[in-house]
Amino acid sequence: MDENDNVLDEAQKDAEQAENSRALYEVKMKYLGRTGRITALLKKMKELAQEDRPAFGKKVNDLRMLLEARFAVLEEIIRQKELEHKLESERIDVTMPGKRKREGVLHPVTRVKNELIDVFAGMGFEIYEGPEIESEYYNFTALNTPADHPARDMQDTFYVTDEFLLRTQTSAAQIRVMEKKKPPIKILSPGRVFRSDDDATHSPMFHQMEGLVVDKGITLCDLQGMLDEFARSVFSDSSKTRLRPSYFPFTEPSVEVDVSCASCGGKGCSLCKGTGWIEVLGAGMVNRHVLENCGVDPDEYTGFAFGMGIERIAMLKYGINNIKLLTENDVRFLEQFKD
Ligand code: DAH
Repeated sequence: MDENDNVLDEAQKDAEQAENSRALYEVKMKYLGRTGRITALLKKMKELAQEDRPAFGKKVNDLRMLLEARFAVLEEIIRQKELEHKLESERIDVTMPGKRKREGVLHPVTRVKNELIDVFAGMGFEIYEGPEIESEYYNFTALNTPADHPARDMQDTFYVTDEFLLRTQTSAAQIRVMEKKKPPIKILSPGRVFRSDDDATHSPMFHQMEGLVVDKGITLCDLQGMLDEFARSVFSDSSKTRLRPSYFPFTEPSVEVDVSCASCGGKGCSLCKGTGWIEVLGAGMVNRHVLENCGVDPDEYTGFAFGMGIERIAMLKYGINNIKLLTENDVRFLEQFKD
């Protein structure tokens, strides 16, 4: 019988140590649980004489009820304390000044890329993105630039293996499209290109936008008409284009395309170095060897292609004088491109 009093004392001490509801629950189980002390006491009943059992049973039952009542009180106290603590820690001072959220803006290269896609998608172009690691075949050979061709020197190339390289031009995508799709073809291929080149207007990684149109009866006039539309949308309503003869192995004839200087309207200024014109891209009629390489009959189909540097367009459009500004990610620079 004495043991009952001990159990009560011990339970009281244990419970006082419990600092949170979880600890208190464990103490409660130690005494009132299925394998707890009360159950253990009841099991001892068997050892008693028959006549002592009812009294013993009552005593243990009273003890259980007492313990349950005490635990209930303690539980309520701890629950209150925990609630107060929670409310205190989650308290919000509505008079504090708010944290201003800084909104990001699209990078100028992304903006120009999206704008170009919009302009050309409006003319019915579809997007195709080729791989950045290319084989020599797609980047050069199929584009009418065999291994010993001097034009390979025009683009300092990063080789990955003897056969694979980081593409130097999105023109590689032209081949991939023509191999898979029969004309009519009208695709736009944006993407990153890589060249071992580094100064104020050249960066080892930059972006190009390639265009390719192949169908029956396509001429250089179609190319210029489309480029005029591009210049008016991207630069100014009064922009004009001018074609100058040039050379690329994959086009014949090849042209360099100038846009009238949007800064001086063609009168001549420091931006256009007094000429009134700014060179923006390379283009031409797809060389018949390139069509043949892709299984397109050059006597049935003709096409034009063009390729432009997206950074270059962004620099011209926004008056950026150093290409490095586009990769440094200085927030003070980028923030200026808010809508
Ligand atoms: N791939 C050329 C370059 O990177 C640009 C170019 C010129 C693309 C003429 C064309 C083209 O599609 O017809 O300099």
